[in-house]
Amino acid sequence: AVPVITVDGPSGVGKGLVTRWLAQRLRGWHRLDSGALYRILALAAHRRRVDLDDAAAVARLAPTLDIRFEGEREDDERILVDGQDWTRDLRRESTGALASKIAAAPPVRAALLQRQRDFRRAPGLIADGRDMGTVVFPDAALKIFMDASPEERAQRRLKQLSEKGIQATLAPLCEEIRARDERDRNRPVAPLKPAEQAEVVDTTGLSPEAVLARVEALLRR
Ligand code: CDP
Repeated sequence: AVPVITVDGPSGVGKGLVTRWLAQRLRGWHRLDSGALYRILALAAHRRRVDLDDAAAVARLAPTLDIRFEGEREDDERILVDGQDWTRDLRRESTGALASKIAAAPPVRAALLQRQRDFRRAPGLIADGRDMGTVVFPDAALKIFMDASPEERAQRRLKQLSEKGIQATLAPLCEEIRARDERDRNRPVAPLKPAEQAEVVDTTGLSPEAVLARVEALLRR
């Protein structure tokens, strides 16, 4: 089977940094940003005035969306939905909150399952999200679970948003991240938690370089 590396963890923990680095390191491997799929579906439902509590209606929307990921780096990444550039709107914390809301519903998760597995193509796939190692790719060759304190994740997210010219304030951002964590950890289906075989990397207090050094060590084992 085509090998998969999964990178799971809560919001703002640096999964993007690690997956992009892995994609460079493992030339030609594909990437799946599963959170983007949840964000896209949530925003599409919101824009089409589908009731977000109507999980069946939200799920029905999933197969109708034409989704394209372009660019490799964070600063040239573009996400096109039905031919339109949604990149900026998808990154907003308000979209993350909508995504976490629909993500708690089993029909929505079921609707995205095969779509995520379709990203598995030779020579390999690096998949990041919440349940990549536990549900979507249980046979992954390496499962990484990243964690960090909520305060530190809010700081990192603030910096990342400001680099994209998106305004945010630390205290409310920290609150939103906590609320989203809480919902992601306590939902009945695919709750956020490390897979049994996961390598847990606590990145609190670590520089990006130090995080990547740990991941490099995991690759070499
Ligand atoms: O970038 P960040 O970690 O803040 O968020 P994301 O990965 O884009 O995910 C947004 C939301 O989608 C999460 O809070 C989860 O509720 C949901 N999600 C999920 O349930 N399962 C996944 N595999 C990925 C995201």
